[in-house]
Amino acid sequence: MVEKVAHAPKTETEKGVQRCVNRACGARFGLRERIYVCPRCGETLEIDCRLVRPHDPSALRKYWAAKTTSKLPRDASGVWRYHDVLPFGETAPFVTLFEGNTPLFHAPLSAKYCGLMDLRLKHQGYNPTGSFKDTGMATAMTQALISGARTAVCASTGNTAASLAAYASRAELQSAILLPRGQVSPAKLAQSLDYGALVLEIDGNFDDCMRLVQELGDDPSIYVANSINPFRIEGQKTVAYEMMEQCLWQAPDHVVVPGGNMGNSTALGKGFQELLDLGLIKRLPKLSVIQAEGAAPLARLFASLDPNQSADDERIPEKLAPVANPQTLATAIKIGAPVSWKKALRAVLRSGGKIIAVSEQEIADAKAMIGRDSIGCEPASATTVAGIKKLAAAGHIRHKEDVVAVLTGHALKDPDYMINYHRGTLSLDSGAKDGSAPPQPILGAFRNAPERVAATKAAIIESLERRR
Ligand code: F0G
Repeated sequence: MVEKVAHAPKTETEKGVQRCVNRACGARFGLRERIYVCPRCGETLEIDCRLVRPHDPSALRKYWAAKTTSKLPRDASGVWRYHDVLPFGETAPFVTLFEGNTPLFHAPLSAKYCGLMDLRLKHQGYNPTGSFKDTGMATAMTQALISGARTAVCASTGNTAASLAAYASRAELQSAILLPRGQVSPAKLAQSLDYGALVLEIDGNFDDCMRLVQELGDDPSIYVANSINPFRIEGQKTVAYEMMEQCLWQAPDHVVVPGGNMGNSTALGKGFQELLDLGLIKRLPKLSVIQAEGAAPLARLFASLDPNQSADDERIPEKLAPVANPQTLATAIKIGAPVSWKKALRAVLRSGGKIIAVSEQEIADAKAMIGRDSIGCEPASATTVAGIKKLAAAGHIRHKEDVVAVLTGHALKDPDYMINYHRGTLSLDSGAKDGSAPPQPILGAFRNAPERVAATKAAIIESLERRR
């Protein structure tokens, strides 16, 4: 649905600027300029929405709460409900598939598994295309329309693709998707085809696709919808607002997210900082990011930092050493050269969080545990619970602390992974082309294999009794 807001003024001043995140550069650009990195120094951009701290933050809380019962399409979206903190004027069109408004579950079995009293899971897999990408795609496609682009493109490990395909169709824009051939879950590929995108399978990995998209961004008809685009981040930051509303504006001690291209961690970090600046929360939650061991360039960099490093410290390294051939069965985060790593690293450091890596075995078992909690998620999302268990064991998260993990994708995004885990046939191919490294089996500690049973009542009862 592309909606126009009626009765709004014809002219309005722009609600913010695009600014270079490199403090030494600090260049600023208008919101209408279709740029994805700073034309002066090449660094990434962020949007300064020029938010003003209200005299009475509780009035803002009440205002948003009242919108939850509104019947207006803009208020029914969990993104557009927070229009006041987004860089779009009243007359701007808005693209929506009624994203956001996702549940925050208590997960008692996963909490126990991690050694915690309680653990809550914010499930972004409940979005229209089944992943957290939809919140950012609503704003990115809105901006694509405003900028007059004809085609929206993205590189993707699958979820951005499905989301772009759906939201571009809603906005009546062409979409083209660059996927690493043979490395995307069939469910995600099927979604992109179904929503009508032009799917281009590239012989290479995600990082190759991302490089091509950045080259294509020079073409004036093309709009880049990856999270390097700061308008994507604006939509994704609303998850921080929604989460805090669900937490009754009491910031948890920790918020934990998976890390791939680092757009999500950047967005949550920005959202929490804005909430603090607006006086809506009293402290920042410690934001921690979890990567898969075989695709963990930022966790490696983090481990090499001076433990006293603070976010304002200009000693943040200039370069990130990429992982040339990333490997993980959590294909959504199979990324070796994340584009938004600097923004994410700053957000983590500013909050006092950590960036760590977890093994394939740890991801697989954490995922099964989330399943047992009747919640389920895709493999990349389960890095969070695996990471929380590790951070709790290391004393960074304490037993009674308030912890929220963000699950980024729905369980049905990757059914093959689940079936293989439960049948005991899950294994990681090392990626070595010469066959020098054998596949690494992942043993399911919480296996629940299907059982072949004779077609009789007695056989079924016998099977039930055995597992009671
Ligand atoms: N979880 C899921 C399910 C994802 O699809 C992704 C990223 C991430 C976590 C990591 O988020 O990149 O913001 O750090 N998927 C992208 C894609 C790369 O193309 O769908 P990030």
